[in-house]
Amino acid sequence: MKSAKNNEALKQLAGHGAATLVADGMVCGMGTGSTARFFIEEVGRRMREEGLRITGIPTSFQSRILCQEQGIPLRDAQDCRRIDLAVDGADEVDPDLNVTKGGGAAHTLEKLVATMASQFVVIVDESKLVPRLGTTLDIPIEIILPALGYVTEVVTRLGGEARLRMGLNKDGPVVTDNGQLIIDAKFGLDVDLREVDARLHRTPGVLDTGLFFDLAAKVLVGVSDDMSVRTLERKA
Ligand code: A5P
Repeated sequence: MKSAKNNEALKQLAGHGAATLVADGMVCGMGTGSTARFFIEEVGRRMREEGLRITGIPTSFQSRILCQEQGIPLRDAQDCRRIDLAVDGADEVDPDLNVTKGGGAAHTLEKLVATMASQFVVIVDESKLVPRLGTTLDIPIEIILPALGYVTEVVTRLGGEARLRMGLNKDGPVVTDNGQLIIDAKFGLDVDLREVDARLHRTPGVLDTGLFFDLAAKVLVGVSDDMSVRTLERKA
């Protein structure tokens, strides 16, 4: 069994590996979470020590603060029409490089930034590789409050179980950076998650799901065998 410390080292390997993909003048999507943190810190180091110049597009409040700490100039997604490279962590990666995100409730902006990018690169430690999405994580769905009952019903009709994500050190639900709520939906292994995603995108009150199909160009995986980074490329 992997220790949390080892996982941190593997996340760092992946994050630093992705930082080598950043070139001078790029507009870069800056991901959210404990793996993206290593990427942001390494980009900051390269800017200070190598004179690299980039503009970062933060994907969350947390990402914004980390970038500011590193002195990375920022622009908001709404002020951009294109992004060169987006780098972000993930909660699960399947063999076709589809991923689930939203463990940190930031997936709506993360997906927008990933979609705007010419290249979306995912960084993970090896524990995130799964045979099928939804294996280790329920599917996060960001919703507006009035849609809570209806989206719960839609998830049930799709064969899933919906649970409102509750806050830690706070009474009541998690409130996202967008001021909205998160439903975590568990689906059985027989349920087609592409169908689920398509249905949820047709459901009023849903902002976005944590299912990222066909978006990642490559996945950098920190592996413990030889403490190296393995690059998985999406098949054309
Ligand atoms: C944020 O909502 C998430 O999508 C994160 O990017 C994802 O949970 C990966 O986070 P870690 O790198 O902390 O595992």
